Amino acid sequence: MSKGNKKYFIIDFDSTFTQVEALDILGEISLKDSPERASRLQQIKDITDKGMNGSFSFRESLEQRISILNAHKNHLPKLVEELKKVVSTSFKRNADFFEKYADRIYIISNGFKDFIVPIVGDYYIKPENVCANEFEFDTDGNIVGFDKENVLSSNNGKVEQLKSLELKGDIYVIGDGYTDYEIKAAGLANKFYAFTENVERANVTENADHITPSFDEFLYLNKLNTAISYPKNRINVLLLESVHSKAIENLKKEGYNVEVYPAGLDEDELVKKIKNVSILGIRSKTQVTKRVLDNANRLISIGAFCIGTNQIDLEACLEKGVAVFNAPFSNTRSVVEMAISEIILLLRQLSDRSAKMHEGIWDKSAKGSFEIRGKKLGIIGYGNIGAQLSVLAESIGLQVLYFDIEEKLALGNATKCESLEELLGESDIISLHVDGRKENANIIGEKEFKQMKDGVIFLNLSRGHVVDIDALKNNILNSKIAGAGIDVFPEEPKSNDDEFVSPLRGLPNVLLTPHIGGSTLEAQENIATFVPNKIMEYINTGSTTNSVNFPNLQLPTLQNAHRLIHIHLNMPGILAKINQVLADHQINIVGQYLKTNEVIGYVITDIDKEYDKDVIKALRSIEHTIKFRVLY
Ligand code: NAI
Repeated sequence: MSKGNKKYFIIDFDSTFTQVEALDILGEISLKDSPERASRLQQIKDITDKGMNGSFSFRESLEQRISILNAHKNHLPKLVEELKKVVSTSFKRNADFFEKYADRIYIISNGFKDFIVPIVGDYYIKPENVCANEFEFDTDGNIVGFDKENVLSSNNGKVEQLKSLELKGDIYVIGDGYTDYEIKAAGLANKFYAFTENVERANVTENADHITPSFDEFLYLNKLNTAISYPKNRINVLLLESVHSKAIENLKKEGYNVEVYPAGLDEDELVKKIKNVSILGIRSKTQVTKRVLDNANRLISIGAFCIGTNQIDLEACLEKGVAVFNAPFSNTRSVVEMAISEIILLLRQLSDRSAKMHEGIWDKSAKGSFEIRGKKLGIIGYGNIGAQLSVLAESIGLQVLYFDIEEKLALGNATKCESLEELLGESDIISLHVDGRKENANIIGEKEFKQMKDGVIFLNLSRGHVVDIDALKNNILNSKIAGAGIDVFPEEPKSNDDEFVSPLRGLPNVLLTPHIGGSTLEAQENIATFVPNKIMEYINTGSTTNSVNFPNLQLPTLQNAHRLIHIHLNMPGILAKINQVLADHQINIVGQYLKTNEVIGYVITDIDKEYDKDVIKALRSIEHTIKFRVLY
């Protein structure tokens, strides 16, 4: 870029300014009732593509398409209406840029002024800055051709058009087609940017000075960005361990550059890969160690596409200012449904009866079989799962009692117990839904089983170490427990290839399942939506609700302000320093939010858009700053 020169922006229309080829849409309108609609539309598309590749005479292609279209003047208002809906998203987002530079923006298109002028007019571009073809109509208003004198209907038309504009200054061309590149090839433009948000053509991208997956990237490269602080295509996402395809789709839709690996990576591999990654997505196998984090220069956030986060060094993440998100209740409903089904199965001994039938034994009797209606269900741990189970269980006629070490609101008609002992003594069915903290090891052992009623039904779908398995076995064998449903074990096989070893194998009326309480396709899909949404919210607004390690802060949407996000070590006096810097630069603060935990402080400051940019440098250099970014 030559300093001081005036800059002109030459922008293509079809598949650049709008997501589509306008003549394709015109065809859909004009051929709506034609029996040959599908084949004709395909013909138009094929001809367009050939023209775009530079392998077809343009005038010929235009003539052919217009004759296939069978279009009329009356179709044009509908076409404009449709095109307005499909202006490229990154163009829409940057309306400010068009307003500011309207005089220096030219649309040079092989399309038609008849529909381009009204579309780009909404973005402040004047009709005289639109260079394009014009339709010719017959006396009945049918579109029968185009103005053949117009250079834009001929090969190399864009080059001729630009020459005739005689613009004095630096010329930047952005478009998706070969004809856009030709302007640069003819030596008329300083730079050609291949725009790939809507379509990507190899013969265009390979000739481009830059590939711009969005208009944000174009503006960022030229330091003209006003709508977003950092182009999303520059945010690299690495997804491991076959994360659900919906998650990949969601993150790609946001505009991120997403790389996917079906398997996990070991520490050495991850250390190599993590360098330029901004968002890492894993499931339970990948170990995110301090060493991995020390090599992560750009990491902003980690998504655990599961519930547990033991595989991540959360403390080291905090020290690096990396926010971790998981999916704490994406599979809540799945666990609850399994618990309900097991209660019914166990009260009717259905699993044992079915097994006998398979052995040829017909054992018809009502002995030991009960309805669930009116029975007392005792829920230990009234968190996400416990509370949801409470609601569902009541709706099918169980009476719910619960015990939690924290104060929890009783839902529906559930009754809170003051002690574990009280719950154990009153319940006909006991279901464990406590979390996996260390202190919960063996909270149900010989003593607790003794406190239960005879013939109780016992479920553990929470964590393996919370129940003393030998005590459980004894109490099944001595008939204290009439039935048990166990989904989690102190030791679980590492993979499906390893044998499941447990004292509980072979016991009567005991349902053993391989830790599948939360394993449903719905839960997988929920996780794939929940986790990316949390990460995108964090990146776009700074909100940390549901973060596993960051102080949770729900922030209002940013309006007419810039947002400064400052993460620092939690030391006394840092907020004061931040505010001192802001005061020294006479910054008007619109809003400020602070939350801390033992390790970090998280301060969000919304400020008026007009400010001295030196303030950013000053904030960045405050001692103990871990990470700093600006959103707008
Ligand atoms: P949560 O954290 O929302 O709820 C746990 C509740 O247990 C909290 O209210 C807590 O105060 C309470 N609690 C902790 N220790 C206690 C104790 N000793 N006595 C009484 N209450 C106690 O957790 P959420 O989401 O409801 O999950 C519950 C359990 O289910 C977790 O252990 C989780 O790992 C497990 N889980 C199992 C799945 C499976 O596939 N089987 C799937 C999903 C979760």
